[in-house]
Amino acid sequence: MSTRPRPLVAGNWKMNGLRASLTELEAMVTANNTALSSNVDLLICPPFPLLQMASSMTLDAAKGRRISIGAQDCHTKESGAHTGDVSAQMIADTGATYVIVGHSERRADHAETDAIVCAKAEAARRAGLTAIICVGETHAEREAGRALDIVRAQLHGSIPQGMGASHLVIAYEPVWAIGTGLTPTAADVAQVHALIRAELVNLLPQVGADVRILYGGSVKPSNAVELMGVENVNGALVGGASLTAKDFLGIAAAYL
Ligand code: PGA
Repeated sequence: MSTRPRPLVAGNWKMNGLRASLTELEAMVTANNTALSSNVDLLICPPFPLLQMASSMTLDAAKGRRISIGAQDCHTKESGAHTGDVSAQMIADTGATYVIVGHSERRADHAETDAIVCAKAEAARRAGLTAIICVGETHAEREAGRALDIVRAQLHGSIPQGMGASHLVIAYEPVWAIGTGLTPTAADVAQVHALIRAELVNLLPQVGADVRILYGGSVKPSNAVELMGVENVNGALVGGASLTAKDFLGIAAAYL
């Protein structure tokens, strides 16, 4: 019987944020007090140009890393002729420790398939990063009653064999809930997260119970307590509300 995984509240800044926005990250670091940090891990994934600075400013010589830093994508290869791309190794070299792979915006905008997402998660593991693999159904797929089948297929296609619990996080993000203000009911979230947990135990028998499963899609301070209280929800992947310290910490406060 394993214990409940330690929660993770992760912020995905997407293509938002200039250097001036790092004042919000600074405010998050300052506010991440003992009460909060003893209950929940915090992570911010800024755009690539801010990665190095974000990584440096969250590392405290005395206290260690106060907030983890991650990237929003990586290439499948370590180096080479891939203009404009960034490898997992380069991300790790900045001091970042996480990378989001297979976000629905990348699956849609860059035609990323499960096989590509799987190769990116594998690249993350090789570089020593924790991969946050995103899955989730579209509105049409949910309407057609296919949400569970879609998520199951994405999990099977996107998770490399033999991943360790500390190198893998799953984020369930219904595409129709991202940036829309809409969220599934707690019962719907519970149903999908139970399926993800069962599939993780099936795919990774040694560690499946310990892998963190985040819910993402219009998480706000006002709905965080309800969503984070759902069985098998081990934290959140937050887009819009992670851009300000006030909202991001308001969500993390669900674990206080
Ligand atoms: P949102 O985005 O919180 O703005 O809905 C979530 C995500 O895409 O990770």
